[in-house]
Amino acid sequence: MTDSAKRQGFSTRAVHAGTTPDPTTGARVPPIHQSVAFVFRDVEHAANLFNLDEAGFIYSRLTNPTVSTLQDRLADLEGGAGAVCTASGHAAQMLSLFGLMRAGDEFVASNKLYGGSITQFGHAFARLGWTVRFVDPDDPETVRGACNDRTRAIFSESLANPGGIMCDIESLAKIAHENAIPLIIDNTLATPVLCNPIAYGADLVVHSTTKFLSGHGHAIGGAIIDSGTFDWVASGKFPHLTDPNPAYHGTSFVEKFGELAYTVYSIAVSLRDLGPTMSADIAARTLTGIETLPLRVKKHCENAQATAEWLQKHEQVEWVSYAGLPEDPYYERAQRYCPDGAGAVFTFGVRGGYEAGVKVVENVTLFSHLANIGDTRSLIVHPASTTHRQLSDEQKTAAGAGPEVIRISVGIEDIDDILADLEQALAVATGG
Ligand SMILES: Cc1ncc(COP(=O)(O)O)c(C=O)c1O
Repeated sequence: MTDSAKRQGFSTRAVHAGTTPDPTTGARVPPIHQSVAFVFRDVEHAANLFNLDEAGFIYSRLTNPTVSTLQDRLADLEGGAGAVCTASGHAAQMLSLFGLMRAGDEFVASNKLYGGSITQFGHAFARLGWTVRFVDPDDPETVRGACNDRTRAIFSESLANPGGIMCDIESLAKIAHENAIPLIIDNTLATPVLCNPIAYGADLVVHSTTKFLSGHGHAIGGAIIDSGTFDWVASGKFPHLTDPNPAYHGTSFVEKFGELAYTVYSIAVSLRDLGPTMSADIAARTLTGIETLPLRVKKHCENAQATAEWLQKHEQVEWVSYAGLPEDPYYERAQRYCPDGAGAVFTFGVRGGYEAGVKVVENVTLFSHLANIGDTRSLIVHPASTTHRQLSDEQKTAAGAGPEVIRISVGIEDIDDILADLEQALAVATGG
């Protein structure tokens, strides 16, 4: 992040951060470096790159110039020291923890997460010997009580998918730091336009760039942004970052890379050995998407607010869970952490339970019935029958995905068309 970029406004940085005209061709848009490998100047250059004595490009599983441009832009927008891009949001979550955990370690996670994350944490990660303890993030004493000597991180979403729930980032950061472990925040739903978790004490931020960042439903990707401020040495719980690493000739990542220790480890070890890399093509699409992120998020939030207010008054709707509504229990917290809008993804309960929920999603025409969020298009899903169906009934309810729940991701179309579509689908579903 350059000083001049830091001084510029968010919208300017969304367009420019990380990029300059291509020095060889003058290309103004970052070129897609669709090359697996990069030619060494000579053997000494190669040795320096392999020894991590010089920054540069070897092989695109580790680093690629287009992906690197996106990493720089994301680090800038989230206020971090460095970033690593990955093949998906799930890959970012796996890699974020791989940089912290060994078999036998534990982490504490919010029980109000995207259903796929609850499954990934509870099932796939268990096979790696990583134990997750799910907790209610709104109960600090439970979060505190779930931490022990083997705990290596606390994980939560800023705005949770699908419940319209805002977590208290500062409270979680305090508990994490009391335990000398990092707080990881999934900022996918809020995006850095609405919330910068690092400013409230988060140490690592993860994203599914698949959603609002790329923004057009055409690019699966993920990212980890490192604040660069966690004190790995004082913690003493992360020897792979602080002690000499035999695979890199005894290099201590902290000694050699300082605030970039975790970022460099994530590229030079985690990506190198696990391999869930973002492609140059996807990085280019995501860079283009981010250029309009502030404009899109503003429109998404305006439409979401209007839709939530309209649904709240609709007689076929039992309840609306949107942190932008003054009556919502998360309203005050959202005003504090996301003052410019409570995002565009939220849930409501339709009268008539599971059956009515299924009928709503089957009768929309403008909304697309699919399992995604953060597209320019309005999207709708019935979590209990789709995204959250792997969860137990108890987990579904905790995650805000009960039988009557509909999740919408409000797009950037004209608000009258969005409301007209919901009106006719609700009428068919509830026989109104
Ligand atoms: C909040 C959140 N985090 C992570 C993910 C996983 O992202 P991806 O689908 O890019 O792996 C999702 C997917 O819906 C999500 O909503």
